[in-house]
Amino acid sequence: MGRPHMEPLVDRDVTPRALRLPGWASGITYRTLSIDPVNGSCTQVVEMVGGFRQEAGFSRSEWELFILDGRLTIDGTAYTKGQYFFIPAGYRIGNIEAPLGCRAIWFFNDHYPDWVTATDHRDDDVATDQFVSVQAEDNVRWQVPTFFPQTEPGVFIKMLRLDEETGAFTGLYNMCAGFWQDNVSYHDCMEESYHIWGESWMMQFGYLPTGGYFYRPPYIGHGPFQCEYGTYAIFRTDSWLVNHFNWNPYMNVDENRQRVVDIVQKRQPLLTDWTFLTKDEFVP
Ligand SMILES: [Fe+2]
Repeated sequence: MGRPHMEPLVDRDVTPRALRLPGWASGITYRTLSIDPVNGSCTQVVEMVGGFRQEAGFSRSEWELFILDGRLTIDGTAYTKGQYFFIPAGYRIGNIEAPLGCRAIWFFNDHYPDWVTATDHRDDDVATDQFVSVQAEDNVRWQVPTFFPQTEPGVFIKMLRLDEETGAFTGLYNMCAGFWQDNVSYHDCMEESYHIWGESWMMQFGYLPTGGYFYRPPYIGHGPFQCEYGTYAIFRTDSWLVNHFNWNPYMNVDENRQRVVDIVQKRQPLLTDWTFLTKDEFVP
């Protein structure tokens, strides 16, 4: 089923609740920004109280963690605002502590947040080579996005994690004050964003301040949009992002999807034929 379209949402409008899920120590409050009602995969803003301590272990879900404020330590090593982790399913993380408290956003991509206390990774099949730990504010440079067709000038991104096979990525973007894009865009991937700081305005969904969030499934038209004073946000997709632009805000998801098929069919007919042929039908 997947997660429903969630837009716009502001984190402070969500009632915080105490996290009481299998394996987790007490001391975390969460605000759910989006959730899959079937498997429980979700995005949440979480706050760990000062003195929080979580024993070493792993989640059975792939998950990502980005520190928004404060500090946490893992086996004594300190991590601060701007720290990002991509943690494969079953990958063991050491003892987590937040001596003075910590606020973060986390993404559980396969199912609800769970935790299994452990002294090692789950098994030999854990994709340990995919683990990412990066301090985004110190060690990653801003770059001009290379998604084509491109958005208007005025957006920079920091790539934090890229899946080479699917093109799925997590990054930060920085939209400059006065940014303006005058068309409608949609994508073949889902896109998800949380405003760490700043604001933006989207014709269909209105104003999104600091703490603003959206989870947007594929082919949902969005735009024109603008940003008056600047935006700093964390952003995710589940496959490679292509900007499909048009100037018709009244097209629905099915029409947008069909338009992409028509464009690809015109531009690359052999590729389209090949895509829809079965293995036996294909003659190279
Ligand atoms: Fe978009």
